[in-house]
Amino acid sequence: MIKLIEVGPRDGLQNESTFIPTNKKIEFIKNLYSAGLKNIEIASFVNPKSIPQMSDAKDVVENIQDLDFHKSVLVPNLKGYEIASKFNLDEISVFTTTSEKFCIKNTNCTIQESYQRINEIVSVSENLKIRGYLSTVFGCPYEGDISLEKVIEGIKNLFELGCYEVSLGDTTGIARPKQVRSYLNEILKEFPHDKIAMHFHDTRGLALSNVVESLERGVRIFDSSAGGLGGCPYAKGASGNLATEDLVSFLHGEGVKTGIDLKKLTLASENIFKVTQKQSLSKIHQLIMRECGI
Ligand code: HMG
Ligand code: MG
Repeated sequence: MIKLIEVGPRDGLQNESTFIPTNKKIEFIKNLYSAGLKNIEIASFVNPKSIPQMSDAKDVVENIQDLDFHKSVLVPNLKGYEIASKFNLDEISVFTTTSEKFCIKNTNCTIQESYQRINEIVSVSENLKIRGYLSTVFGCPYEGDISLEKVIEGIKNLFELGCYEVSLGDTTGIARPKQVRSYLNEILKEFPHDKIAMHFHDTRGLALSNVVESLERGVRIFDSSAGGLGGCPYAKGASGNLATEDLVSFLHGEGVKTGIDLKKLTLASENIFKVTQKQSLSKIHQLIMRECGI
């Protein structure tokens, strides 16, 4: 059983400089849901000055309340949690990193302070599940190499703070299969494989190869973004996430049932690319568009 987390509406859209109208974001989420995605990170409640694209998150979340899927949002602090807690959500994601420099750039605090913020959130959250992201696991654009010890310490801290699952972020798409293999070999000695997710960005076209390595090591949870949208505005060089189309097509080829309709998924992301006036870099997205004669 493979669990897929769609992060397109949050990680995907947060990196778009042109503001995407709220109704288009809502339509995107509804289309992803219709395509069969059942775990969707729908927005983030962050400082709107930091990420203007997410400034309409409340309206987005309010308008998809009735849809029956596992809904999560990303929050950086108690203020974000207080806004999130007014809605009918299943989960919130919190985030920290292995890199002090990235932490300051992304969230204006030290790693230690980011743990304090997470602790404040966990202390007041009641029924919501808390998912933890650990960024820059395979390298940082500001600090370079990241040691395995720092990664293991970060994962341990997130679990101790109360996260039920930790997603390992290859924030700038720097990971290579050899490194994924060696890191996961050690990480999965310390932590259960069913609580570790992989979050690859596809900057170097290696995201799917990294998925193969992760699957072989026993990981079963993957984050991806429709059309390969995405990146982090505070991570120099971050490009799109692993495209959900590429991941789903690969899994179907391996005989894994996902319940996702690839054509509907491709059309869902294509609708957003019409707004951004960009093209998806996902090979499978392009192939399906050609097959549809679009
Ligand atoms: P700060 O400026 O240090 O915060 O931001 P502050 O407490 O000094 O507040 C400044 C202003 O922000 C105040 O408003 C607050 O009310 C407001 P003002 O008085 O100026 O009008 N504020 C908020 N407003 C709405 N929601 C909030 C919130 N918090 C403060 N939650 C903060 C600190 C962390 C908030 C800011 O730096 C921030 O929002 N950073 C988020 C950056 C971000 O979203 N990055 C991308 C997500 S992480 C990612 O993409 C990586 C990931 O995908 C995994 C991977 O790829 O590795 C997850
Ligand atoms: Mg990301």
